Amino acid sequence: MPREAVSRRYLMCAPTHFRVTYSINPWMDPSKPVDLPLAQTQWEDLRDRYRALGHTVELLDPRPDLPDMVFAANGATVIDGRVLGARFAYRERYEEAGAHRAWFRANGFTEIHEPDHVNEGEGDFAVTASYVLAGRGFRSSPLSHGEAQEFFGRPVIGLDLVDPRYYHLDTALSVLDDAGDEIMYYPGAFSPGSRSVLARLFPDALIAGEADAAALGLNAVSDGRHVLLPQAATGLFDPLRARGFEPVPMDLGELLKGGGSVKCCTQELRG
Ligand code: ARG
Repeated sequence: MPREAVSRRYLMCAPTHFRVTYSINPWMDPSKPVDLPLAQTQWEDLRDRYRALGHTVELLDPRPDLPDMVFAANGATVIDGRVLGARFAYRERYEEAGAHRAWFRANGFTEIHEPDHVNEGEGDFAVTASYVLAGRGFRSSPLSHGEAQEFFGRPVIGLDLVDPRYYHLDTALSVLDDAGDEIMYYPGAFSPGSRSVLARLFPDALIAGEADAAALGLNAVSDGRHVLLPQAATGLFDPLRARGFEPVPMDLGELLKGGGSVKCCTQELRG
Protein backbone atom coordinates (compact mmCIF):
# COMPACT_ATOMS: atom_id res chain seq x y z
CA MET A 1 0.00 0.00 0.00
CA PRO A 2 1.36 3.46 -0.88
CA ARG A 3 2.17 5.80 2.00
CA GLU A 4 2.12 9.55 1.98
CA ALA A 5 4.21 11.77 4.18
CA VAL A 6 2.41 14.68 5.80
CA SER A 7 4.61 17.67 6.55
CA ARG A 8 4.96 18.34 10.25
CA ARG A 9 6.06 21.02 12.66
CA TYR A 10 8.40 19.93 15.43
CA LEU A 11 9.89 21.58 18.49
CA MET A 12 13.45 20.59 19.42
CA CYS A 13 16.08 21.78 21.89
CA ALA A 14 19.83 21.54 21.21
CA PRO A 15 21.88 19.36 23.60
CA THR A 16 24.23 22.27 24.38
CA HIS A 17 24.03 21.55 28.11
CA PHE A 18 23.25 17.82 27.96
CA ARG A 19 24.88 15.88 30.80
CA VAL A 20 24.15 12.78 32.84
CA THR A 21 24.75 13.99 36.38
CA TYR A 22 21.77 12.27 38.05
CA SER A 23 19.87 9.08 37.37
CA ILE A 24 16.08 9.07 37.06
CA ASN A 25 15.81 6.09 34.71
CA PRO A 26 17.82 2.86 34.35
CA TRP A 27 19.61 4.09 31.21
CA MET A 28 21.30 6.95 33.06
CA ASP A 29 24.69 6.16 34.60
CA PRO A 30 26.43 9.34 35.79
CA SER A 31 29.79 7.50 35.83
CA LYS A 32 29.64 7.05 32.03
CA PRO A 33 31.07 10.05 30.19
CA VAL A 34 29.02 11.79 27.51
CA ASP A 35 30.78 12.95 24.34
CA LEU A 36 29.08 16.31 24.03
CA PRO A 37 30.38 17.30 20.56
CA LEU A 38 29.20 13.90 19.29
CA ALA A 39 25.81 14.36 20.97
CA GLN A 40 25.54 17.74 19.24
CA THR A 41 26.40 16.24 15.83
CA GLN A 42 23.93 13.39 16.26
CA TRP A 43 21.19 15.80 17.28
CA GLU A 44 21.97 18.10 14.32
CA ASP A 45 21.69 15.11 11.99
CA LEU A 46 18.20 14.48 13.30
CA ARG A 47 17.18 18.13 12.98
CA ASP A 48 18.63 18.34 9.46
CA ARG A 49 16.94 15.10 8.46
CA TYR A 50 13.54 16.48 9.44
CA ARG A 51 14.20 19.61 7.43
CA ALA A 52 15.40 17.61 4.43
CA LEU A 53 12.13 15.65 4.57
CA GLY A 54 10.24 18.95 4.33
CA HIS A 55 9.28 19.37 7.98
CA THR A 56 9.54 22.57 10.01
CA VAL A 57 11.75 22.48 13.09
CA GLU A 58 11.29 25.15 15.75
CA LEU A 59 13.96 25.60 18.39
CA LEU A 60 13.72 26.07 22.11
CA ASP A 61 16.66 27.76 23.87
CA PRO A 62 18.60 25.28 26.00
CA ARG A 63 19.26 26.21 29.63
CA PRO A 64 22.51 25.37 31.45
CA ASP A 65 20.67 24.31 34.61
CA LEU A 66 18.45 21.82 32.74
CA PRO A 67 20.65 19.03 31.30
CA ASP A 68 17.69 16.87 30.12
CA MET A 69 16.08 19.69 28.16
CA VAL A 70 17.21 18.12 24.87
CA PHE A 71 14.33 15.66 25.44
CA ALA A 72 11.83 18.20 24.16
CA ALA A 73 9.00 15.69 23.76
CA ASN A 74 8.40 15.84 27.51
CA GLY A 75 7.66 19.57 27.72
CA ALA A 76 4.05 19.65 26.47
CA THR A 77 1.43 17.96 24.30
CA VAL A 78 -0.11 19.92 21.45
CA ILE A 79 -3.26 18.89 19.57
CA ASP A 80 -5.27 21.22 17.31
CA GLY A 81 -2.99 24.07 18.39
CA ARG A 82 -4.03 23.64 22.03
CA VAL A 83 -1.22 23.16 24.49
CA LEU A 84 -1.38 20.90 27.52
CA GLY A 85 1.65 21.91 29.54
CA ALA A 86 3.82 19.41 31.38
CA ARG A 87 4.42 18.92 35.08
CA PHE A 88 7.51 16.84 35.70
CA ALA A 89 7.73 13.99 38.20
CA TYR A 90 11.31 14.79 39.25
CA ARG A 91 12.62 18.00 40.73
CA GLU A 92 15.62 17.88 38.36
CA ARG A 93 13.38 18.52 35.34
CA TYR A 94 10.65 20.57 36.98
CA GLU A 95 11.58 23.90 35.43
CA GLU A 96 11.53 22.63 31.87
CA ALA A 97 7.74 22.90 31.91
CA GLY A 98 7.85 26.68 32.40
CA ALA A 99 10.46 27.09 29.66
CA HIS A 100 8.12 25.28 27.27
CA ARG A 101 5.09 27.30 28.28
CA ALA A 102 7.07 30.53 27.78
CA TRP A 103 8.00 29.36 24.28
CA PHE A 104 4.36 28.69 23.42
CA ARG A 105 3.27 32.08 24.74
CA ALA A 106 5.98 33.81 22.72
CA ASN A 107 5.06 31.91 19.57
CA GLY A 108 1.40 32.74 19.20
CA PHE A 109 -0.23 29.85 21.04
CA THR A 110 -3.12 31.19 23.08
CA GLU A 111 -4.72 28.11 24.59
CA ILE A 112 -2.16 26.89 27.09
CA HIS A 113 -3.24 24.81 30.06
CA GLU A 114 -0.99 24.60 33.12
CA PRO A 115 -1.74 21.13 34.50
CA ASP A 116 -2.73 20.17 38.02
CA HIS A 117 -1.36 16.66 37.72
CA VAL A 118 2.02 15.24 36.79
CA ASN A 119 2.34 14.52 33.05
CA GLU A 120 5.55 14.35 31.05
CA GLY A 121 4.12 15.55 27.76
CA GLU A 122 4.55 13.35 24.74
CA GLY A 123 6.75 11.08 26.78
CA ASP A 124 3.49 9.57 28.02
CA PHE A 125 0.87 10.84 25.56
CA ALA A 126 0.68 9.42 22.02
CA VAL A 127 -1.89 10.73 19.56
CA THR A 128 -3.68 8.52 17.02
CA ALA A 129 -6.71 9.43 14.91
CA SER A 130 -9.17 8.01 17.44
CA TYR A 131 -7.38 8.22 20.79
CA VAL A 132 -4.81 9.74 23.02
CA LEU A 133 -2.85 6.80 24.42
CA ALA A 134 -1.48 7.58 27.85
CA GLY A 135 1.23 5.86 29.86
CA ARG A 136 1.34 5.65 33.65
CA GLY A 137 3.29 3.77 36.25
CA PHE A 138 6.60 5.60 36.33
CA ARG A 139 6.10 9.27 35.51
CA SER A 140 2.71 10.63 34.48
CA SER A 141 -0.01 10.42 37.10
CA PRO A 142 -3.18 8.47 36.23
CA LEU A 143 -5.00 11.67 37.21
CA SER A 144 -3.32 13.47 34.31
CA HIS A 145 -5.22 11.18 31.94
CA GLY A 146 -8.59 12.58 32.97
CA GLU A 147 -7.15 16.06 32.80
CA ALA A 148 -5.93 15.45 29.23
CA GLN A 149 -9.27 13.95 28.19
CA GLU A 150 -11.15 16.97 29.51
CA PHE A 151 -8.76 19.45 27.90
CA PHE A 152 -8.52 17.82 24.47
CA GLY A 153 -12.00 16.31 24.32
CA ARG A 154 -10.56 13.09 22.97
CA PRO A 155 -10.81 9.63 24.50
CA VAL A 156 -7.75 8.96 26.60
CA ILE A 157 -6.74 5.32 26.97
CA GLY A 158 -4.65 4.68 30.08
CA LEU A 159 -1.90 2.08 29.74
CA ASP A 160 0.15 0.64 32.60
CA LEU A 161 3.89 0.51 32.09
CA VAL A 162 5.57 -2.20 34.16
CA ASP A 163 9.24 -2.36 33.12
CA PRO A 164 11.48 0.47 34.42
CA ARG A 165 13.55 0.47 31.21
CA TYR A 166 10.37 1.59 29.44
CA TYR A 167 9.48 4.34 31.87
CA HIS A 168 7.72 6.55 29.32
CA LEU A 169 5.08 5.37 26.84
CA ASP A 170 7.22 6.64 23.95
CA THR A 171 9.97 4.17 24.84
CA ALA A 172 7.59 1.26 24.17
CA LEU A 173 5.02 2.46 21.64
CA SER A 174 5.09 4.60 18.55
CA VAL A 175 2.36 5.97 16.28
CA LEU A 176 3.08 5.09 12.66
CA ASP A 177 0.04 6.60 10.98
CA ASP A 178 -1.93 9.24 12.85
CA ALA A 179 -4.43 9.70 10.04
CA GLY A 180 -5.49 6.25 11.16
CA ASP A 181 -4.78 4.15 14.19
CA GLU A 182 -1.58 2.40 13.18
CA ILE A 183 1.01 1.82 15.87
CA MET A 184 3.96 -0.36 16.80
CA TYR A 185 4.73 -1.43 20.35
CA TYR A 186 6.58 -3.81 22.62
CA PRO A 187 4.07 -5.85 24.66
CA GLY A 188 6.60 -6.69 27.37
CA ALA A 189 6.54 -3.09 28.60
CA PHE A 190 2.83 -3.28 29.51
CA SER A 191 0.71 -4.96 32.17
CA PRO A 192 -1.38 -7.95 31.00
CA GLY A 193 -4.58 -5.87 31.05
CA SER A 194 -3.01 -3.06 29.04
CA ARG A 195 -1.70 -5.60 26.52
CA SER A 196 -5.25 -6.85 26.05
CA VAL A 197 -6.48 -3.29 25.55
CA LEU A 198 -3.82 -2.67 22.92
CA ALA A 199 -4.60 -5.96 21.16
CA ARG A 200 -8.30 -5.07 21.11
CA LEU A 201 -7.87 -1.51 19.84
CA PHE A 202 -4.95 -2.19 17.49
CA PRO A 203 -5.28 -5.77 16.21
CA ASP A 204 -3.01 -4.99 13.24
CA ALA A 205 -0.23 -3.30 15.19
CA LEU A 206 3.39 -4.01 14.37
CA ILE A 207 4.67 -5.99 17.35
CA ALA A 208 8.29 -5.31 18.27
CA GLY A 209 10.57 -7.91 19.82
CA GLU A 210 12.74 -7.57 22.89
CA ALA A 211 16.00 -6.76 21.08
CA ASP A 212 14.53 -3.89 19.08
CA ALA A 213 12.77 -2.53 22.14
CA ALA A 214 16.01 -2.70 24.12
CA ALA A 215 17.69 -0.63 21.37
CA LEU A 216 14.93 1.93 22.06
CA GLY A 217 13.58 1.18 18.56
CA LEU A 218 10.07 2.19 19.58
CA ASN A 219 11.30 5.72 20.31
CA ALA A 220 10.52 6.60 16.71
CA VAL A 221 8.92 9.46 14.78
CA SER A 222 6.76 8.85 11.72
CA ASP A 223 5.50 11.42 9.23
CA GLY A 224 3.14 8.84 7.77
CA ARG A 225 5.76 7.51 5.42
CA HIS A 226 9.28 7.96 6.82
CA VAL A 227 9.92 6.40 10.19
CA LEU A 228 12.99 7.84 11.90
CA LEU A 229 14.23 5.38 14.50
CA PRO A 230 17.38 4.28 16.35
CA GLN A 231 19.70 2.54 13.89
CA ALA A 232 20.32 -0.45 16.14
CA ALA A 233 16.66 -1.49 15.94
CA THR A 234 17.36 -3.40 12.72
CA GLY A 235 14.62 -5.96 13.30
CA LEU A 236 11.99 -3.29 12.68
CA PHE A 237 13.24 -2.25 9.25
CA ASP A 238 11.72 -5.07 7.18
CA PRO A 239 8.36 -5.17 9.00
CA LEU A 240 8.10 -1.40 8.45
CA ARG A 241 8.97 -1.75 4.75
CA ALA A 242 6.42 -4.55 4.39
CA ARG A 243 3.78 -2.03 5.50
CA GLY A 244 4.94 0.57 3.02
CA PHE A 245 6.96 2.72 5.43
CA GLU A 246 10.52 3.86 4.83
CA PRO A 247 12.73 3.29 7.86
CA VAL A 248 15.26 6.10 8.37
CA PRO A 249 17.91 4.81 10.80
CA MET A 250 19.45 7.47 13.04
CA ASP A 251 22.39 7.33 15.43
CA LEU A 252 21.61 9.08 18.70
CA GLY A 253 23.96 6.92 20.77
CA GLU A 254 25.10 9.73 23.07
CA LEU A 255 21.54 10.74 23.92
CA LEU A 256 20.73 7.12 24.72
CA LYS A 257 22.93 7.63 27.78
CA GLY A 258 20.17 9.90 29.05
CA GLY A 259 17.52 7.30 28.26
CA GLY A 260 16.20 8.93 25.12
CA SER A 261 16.38 8.81 21.35
CA VAL A 262 14.58 10.11 18.27
CA LYS A 263 11.10 10.65 19.70
CA CYS A 264 12.30 11.99 23.05
CA CYS A 265 14.11 14.77 21.19
CA THR A 266 11.04 15.68 19.16
CA GLN A 267 7.80 17.32 20.21
CA GLU A 268 5.14 17.51 17.53
CA LEU A 269 3.20 20.77 17.20
CA ARG A 270 -0.17 19.60 15.84
CA GLY A 271 -2.53 22.06 14.18
N1 ARG B 1 16.67 11.60 31.10
C1 ARG B 1 15.33 11.89 30.70
C2 ARG B 1 14.36 11.44 31.78
O1 ARG B 1 14.59 10.41 32.36
C3 ARG B 1 15.02 11.22 29.40
C4 ARG B 1 13.68 11.57 28.87
C5 ARG B 1 13.38 10.86 27.59
N2 ARG B 1 12.25 11.39 26.96
C6 ARG B 1 11.21 10.67 26.50
N3 ARG B 1 10.29 11.28 25.86
N4 ARG B 1 11.11 9.38 26.75
O2 ARG B 1 13.38 12.08 32.07
